[in-house]
Amino acid sequence: MSNITLRVYRGNSSGGQMVSYEVPKAPGMVVLDAIHYIQKNLDTTLACRWNCKAAKCGSCSAEIDGKPRLMCKTSVEDYPEGVITVGPVRAFPILKDLVTDVSWNFRIASKIPPLQVREEAAGKPFVLQQVDVDRVQEFRKCIECFLCQDVCHVIREHNRKDAFFGPRQMVRIAGLEMHPMDDLNRREQLRAEAGVGMCNITKCCTEVCPEHIHITDNAIIPMKERVVDDYFDPVSGLLRTLGVLPKRTKKPFKSVPNEQTVIVGNTTLAAK
Ligand code: SF4
Ligand code: SF4
Ligand code: FES
Repeated sequence: MSNITLRVYRGNSSGGQMVSYEVPKAPGMVVLDAIHYIQKNLDTTLACRWNCKAAKCGSCSAEIDGKPRLMCKTSVEDYPEGVITVGPVRAFPILKDLVTDVSWNFRIASKIPPLQVREEAAGKPFVLQQVDVDRVQEFRKCIECFLCQDVCHVIREHNRKDAFFGPRQMVRIAGLEMHPMDDLNRREQLRAEAGVGMCNITKCCTEVCPEHIHITDNAIIPMKERVVDDYFDPVSGLLRTLGVLPKRTKKPFKSVPNEQTVIVGNTTLAAK
């Protein structure tokens, strides 16, 4: 059986280096298998995060040969030359080896209010058009791997976590904004603190999404259009004032201050 060479980042917040390991190749092997081989046979101190090994928990995100990917979904056969580099995602602070601190994503998630059901629909079964179900269903496939957040240059290169929630949270907000029963003015959040205008539609996030969510085309661009329509389009504004277009009647959005976002275990809650 031939070997593969895994060059794995070893280090912490103070620094580190790439370390090479020789791993025997096995049929159907994925990069996460190779990491587990190292942990079991070569160095038990190697840290990585994983849970399902089925591309469904979103835990094993890493940069494989420099590209954000899930380790459990990446076959070693994709690298026929037999040398594979594995590093942590670079947009978030490193804790140890391949493990990074992605808690910022959960704190931001806690600033996004859940579905606010319209008064007339409260307590009743939702009656929805299939087209409306289909539109938001795609967004529910997100496994929160944060590979899209990792590749987005607004977060990664410019570190504008202060001004942009990132593509994952755009998907989340889009799923709520497009929900026919939702009654909250989410466009105010999108325009202001979520920073939808910071995205310049490079589509890098869409390219790396393991769930093949059309993040840019189906979530971000429609959200941009809705914000422009409400806040920056003088014609729509005039038509609304004249009563030609209906006035927006959704409940006003209230921001959760940063200091009131907390993380409890694996979930997030906005502090009461
Ligand atoms: S399309 Fe927008 S959100 Fe996606 S990576 Fe590019 S700038 Fe970031
Ligand atoms: S949108 Fe796709 S890439 Fe982003 S966190 Fe969800 S599953 Fe991962
Ligand atoms: S281990 Fe769950 S997504 Fe890879």
